[in-house]
Amino acid sequence: MNKKKIAIFASGTGSNALQLIKHFKGNPNIQVALIVTNSSKAPVIKLAQENDVPFSVVNKSLLSNNSYMTSLLNLYDVDFIVLAGFLLLVPPFLVKIYNQKMINIHPALLPKHGGKGMFGMNVHQAVINSGDSESGITIHYVNEMYDKGKVIFQANVKVDKKDNAEKLSKKVQELEHKYLPEWSEKLIMQMRYI
Ligand code: GAR
Repeated sequence: MNKKKIAIFASGTGSNALQLIKHFKGNPNIQVALIVTNSSKAPVIKLAQENDVPFSVVNKSLLSNNSYMTSLLNLYDVDFIVLAGFLLLVPPFLVKIYNQKMINIHPALLPKHGGKGMFGMNVHQAVINSGDSESGITIHYVNEMYDKGKVIFQANVKVDKKDNAEKLSKKVQELEHKYLPEWSEKLIMQMRYI
């Protein structure tokens, strides 16, 4: 049976992308085949180079170009997309093609603290400001709206009174690094037998 191929869409540091690359290294069924980023300055590019994963810089206008994106993803035989800190809204044609085959990770318990502009440290600061006693991660399918796709999995962390956004982000990141690779694998393996 052919390997299933993942594309990771990431705009920033790429710590989740790195965990995914490590997790699938040597996997007989699944391979990280491509990293897509919208910023030519994103540190995730260096990480792709260091790990011999092809990457492509796709700005907002290319992302919304149906034939460009379809050709790119077909070139790498992409079966499944993982958004790991991707800043741009995914265009509807990709949502349709990758229906139930595109997931995102959000660093809080959706539906709280989601939506446009709720990204990375902004999210943790919003949690601290709201006085919530817990936060966590949400893995969800991607639809046409920011952070509104069907929730697949959530895990919680306690927010201590003395936590600031920085401290909270570290705790949340631990959960992300553990669960995003595990759930990506689980969903792709289910897909293989549908
Ligand atoms: C992660 O915490 C991810 O949950 C968040 O961006 C960070 C990327 O970190 N995504 C969002 O906030 C989406 N709204 P990384 O570049 O180190 O993987």
